[in-house]
Amino acid sequence: MSTSLELQGKHIVLGLSGGIACYKSAELVRELVKAGATVQVVMTEAAEAFITAVTLQALSNRPVYTSQWDAREPNNMAHINLSREADAVLIAPASADFMAKLVQGRADDLLSLLCLARPIERCPLLIAPAMNREMWAHPATQRNAAQLRADGTTLLGPDAGDQACGEIGDGRMLEPADLAEELIAFFQPKRLAGQRVLITAGPTFEAIDPVRGITNRSSGKMGFALARAAREAGAQVTLVAGPVALPTPRGVMRTDVQSAQQMHDAVLPMAGAHDVFIATAAVADWRPAAAHEHKIKKDGSGRPPAIEMVENPDILAAVARLPKPPYCVGFAAESQDLLAHAQAKRLRKGVPLIVGNLGPATFGQDDNTLLLVDEHGHRELPTAGKLALARELVGEIAERLKTST
Ligand code: CTP
Repeated sequence: MSTSLELQGKHIVLGLSGGIACYKSAELVRELVKAGATVQVVMTEAAEAFITAVTLQALSNRPVYTSQWDAREPNNMAHINLSREADAVLIAPASADFMAKLVQGRADDLLSLLCLARPIERCPLLIAPAMNREMWAHPATQRNAAQLRADGTTLLGPDAGDQACGEIGDGRMLEPADLAEELIAFFQPKRLAGQRVLITAGPTFEAIDPVRGITNRSSGKMGFALARAAREAGAQVTLVAGPVALPTPRGVMRTDVQSAQQMHDAVLPMAGAHDVFIATAAVADWRPAAAHEHKIKKDGSGRPPAIEMVENPDILAAVARLPKPPYCVGFAAESQDLLAHAQAKRLRKGVPLIVGNLGPATFGQDDNTLLLVDEHGHRELPTAGKLALARELVGEIAERLKTST
């Protein structure tokens, strides 16, 4: 999913403390700049042992700060000036030693000094720990991580996997693209904080035989964008996806299914434990009555085989009929008369909100136009990228949740 200009207007102080993950920070600067942010790099002396300020200056297009005695600032207070301009301070990599310094409130180099001097309520601090797994697992580091969280710091990662030292475990710095996505998410309003959101997405695949099946042109992009937007808004998100080739948005729990029946069987037992259910999946209405065990062969008669079809369960309607249903949002993909069809569908499925779109025009596209239909009337969300629309829709759902509970 594109993250283009998602950080437009944001000024980020990117701090590097010492660690081999510093090599990834160069890529991170590019990611942040690509997303529209201005990036001011600040390095500790240890970070300079791993990567040069020259590289980071070239990528950020700004001189790098490395010392609290930097005479370039007219007032000679780089720590004050840098932290007053920033929308956030991101330390990546954050070494075990640097975390310990933050916990103690020490300020003997420019980076720790500016972290201490930043106005806490205006300038949030995010850190991406990066260290050997034993260092990360050490009770001292775990204690420091807990204390940093308690002090209002956001910890991004660390990830698990191969480490530069040759060991395998927790402590890897998140990849630059993941850090950029986390930072973008951080700035989104937390309109669904604490809510549990369940989303279906993509097409279903109804097998005819082991090599053939019936499916449709849904790409899953809208559902995946909604999963990302809901998670960005602070929700705990579960995504049940039909066969699609899309990466799982960060922080989202995903279950993959093939058929409508499997989607139904995955969704129904957990729907009651969610606050919101959004059905974006283009579920096949019918499936072959029986999937052949072996490939159907031509029989030489020239007549195609007759495939008997049966109707699939309606997942959305079934969830809406639960004794204590979550707030249900349906999608209506139509090829004509969008408003009338969406209104009728809302009543037929017994859901408070239907989101209409003109299916064939939007399948697989990055843009969409949505029509919201609820008991009060209808409203169009004008054409925009699917992630932008997803964020708007999350806002609309959050508003309706407030009044429905
Ligand atoms: N839906 C579902 N389970 C199904 C069919 C649809 O959960 N078996 C959901 C979709 O995810 C969507 C909404 O119901 O949120 C509308 O789906 P759509 O296929 O457009 O509606 P249908 O009820 O199938 O009506 P029609 O085919 O007549 O347009």
